[in-house]
Amino acid sequence: MKNASGSRIEQALEVAVESCESLGCPPRLAAAIRYAVFPGGARIRPRLCLAIAAGCGEAQSALAEATAASIELLHCASLVHDDLPCFDDAEFRRNRPSVHRAFDERIALLVGDALIVLAFQNVARAYAQHPARLQGVVLALARAAGAPGGIVAGQAWECEETTPLEEYRRLKTGALFVAATVGGALSAGVDPTPWRELGERLGEAYQVADDIRDVLGTDVELGKPAHRDAELLRPSCVNELGVAGAVAHFEALIRAANECIPDCPGAEFLRDLLDLEAQRLLPAALLERVAA
Ligand code: IPE
Ligand code: IPE
Ligand code: MG
Ligand code: MG
Repeated sequence: MKNASGSRIEQALEVAVESCESLGCPPRLAAAIRYAVFPGGARIRPRLCLAIAAGCGEAQSALAEATAASIELLHCASLVHDDLPCFDDAEFRRNRPSVHRAFDERIALLVGDALIVLAFQNVARAYAQHPARLQGVVLALARAAGAPGGIVAGQAWECEETTPLEEYRRLKTGALFVAATVGGALSAGVDPTPWRELGERLGEAYQVADDIRDVLGTDVELGKPAHRDAELLRPSCVNELGVAGAVAHFEALIRAANECIPDCPGAEFLRDLLDLEAQRLLPAALLERVAA
């Protein structure tokens, strides 16, 4: 199931990225767009989107695949911008030079912009025969990416004197997880309202796990610079609760996410998926370092 959904996601991303490579696109920009998307990381957001669409009994797999790909394009854009010197100044990502190091800062800025635009173009193309569903999907993507409810606003909280931690996590990370759950339901033609809470809880859990991994992991394990939150004085759940407290909070959020999976044909599969993801994010071997 995981591999099958993995190749569907890669294929949908390939279609989207290829559409930027034709018609005389400046070659360095085209190469950098591809570099930012392939090879990917965990692809957790698109996998979640496809799992929820399947759980809702989707019959139009092309819609779910395009929605999942667009969510991943927004995520890749956010990483390219986040790594820039004016944000986290991260030299590598996914175990290789970040886009501004492999190319340059101007190209990285433009890659992020291009990927955001491509995300919307991609769903507009895919939903041509389903205009009634398209509006909901576009609004869900826009809300997750922009301001005041999405990634742009989340990143902007880092530019304020004080940062409300829960709000920051909700916008910076949670919003795109909500787009994944809501987008999965919308692509299947199902009312997305009951799926919102699952995205909120998973998004918060994911950012808490990322804060813990930043403290316990190594550069190579993470594929990006470790211990960055402390160096940049970033708001972090570990600062707030300590490592053990943050782990307990993560576990409570995963339990809460499991409990709020709406009744649907794929509920059991979704529960298994959540448990596997929780173990992938914070494996026992990593948590043993807390005591060490
Ligand atoms: C990193 O996201 C940014 C966060 C919100 C924590 P991922 O950990 O999903 O990054 P990739 O896509 O797998 O590299
Ligand atoms: C990334 O936040 C979330 C984005 C909006 C890109 P972080 O800065 O905490 O994530 P990493 O650690 O660089 O992946
Ligand atoms: Mg950041
Ligand atoms: Mg960062």
